[in-house]
Amino acid sequence: MAENTEISVPNHVAMIMDGNGRWAEQLGKPRKYGHEEGMEAVRRVTIRASERGIKVLTLYAFSTENWKRPPQEVHFLMQLPIRFFDRFVPELQEKNVRVNMIGFPEKVPASTKKAIYKAMEETKDNTGMILNFAFNYGSRAEIAKATQAICQKVVAGEINVKEINESLIEQHLFTESISPYQDVDLLIRSSGEQRLSNFLLWQNAYSEFYFSDLLWPEFNGDVLDEALLSYKNRQRRYGAV
Ligand code: IPE
Ligand code: IPE
Ligand code: MG
Repeated sequence: MAENTEISVPNHVAMIMDGNGRWAEQLGKPRKYGHEEGMEAVRRVTIRASERGIKVLTLYAFSTENWKRPPQEVHFLMQLPIRFFDRFVPELQEKNVRVNMIGFPEKVPASTKKAIYKAMEETKDNTGMILNFAFNYGSRAEIAKATQAICQKVVAGEINVKEINESLIEQHLFTESISPYQDVDLLIRSSGEQRLSNFLLWQNAYSEFYFSDLLWPEFNGDVLDEALLSYKNRQRRYGAV
C-alpha cells in the first residue's frame, strides 16, 4: 500500500457531496441554486485537501442513478463541469492540482466531455493532488464493465481463468487511472445520509467513514479538517489483531 509522507494523512479521500437540493429548498430557492453553491464548496475543499497533502480527492458529482431526476435538473448538472472548469482551472494550476475523471463518458453531452477533457489536458503535467471527478459514475456498472472486459480477454485466449485475481480486476476498474491510490482511505458524506449510493463499492472495502450533518453547500475546509482529525484517531486493522 502506498504511504503518505505525513503518516496519518489519508492518501485517498472520497466524498459524496449530498444535500444541495435540501439546502436550496430551505432558502425557498430552486434546487439548481444549491448545485451552484455546491461548486464553491468543491473549490474550498479542493484547496484545503491539496494543502493537507492528500494524494487523491474523489468527488461524486453525478451518479448513473441521477438520470432519474427531472430533465431540467439533469441538464443543469451536465452543464456544471463546463462552468466549474471555466472558473477554476487557473486556480487548480496555481495549486498544482491535476484533474481526472472516472465514470461512463458515453451518455455525457459532447460539450461537457470537451470541458472535462480540456481541464484534464491543461492540468496533466501537475504533480500535486489529483482532483478526481466521479461523473456519470456507478459502482455496479463499473464492476459489470470490468467483468465484460475480462471475459472478452479470456474468450480471446489472452488470459487464463486462473489468472483472474483482485489485482486483475482492479486493473479493469475506472480507478486504474489513479493507481496506486485506488483504495479509498477516508469516505466522507455530507447531509446526514449514511449510505454509499453505489459509490466505489470495491474501493471502499476497508475505508473509514465520516458522516457530517452539514449540507454540501455548507461544507468547508474546517469540516474536512475535522474529518481528518477523526481519521487520525482510527485504528485500521484490515482484519488483523
Ligand atoms: C447532491 O445534492 C448533488 C447531486 C446528487 C448531483 P442533491 O441534489 O442530492 O441534494 P439533496 O440530497 O436532494 O438535498
Ligand atoms: C449520491 O447522492 C450521488 C451524488 C452525490 C452524485 P444522491 O442524492 O443521488 O443519493 P441518494 O439518492 O440519496 O442515495
Ligand atoms: Mg441527495
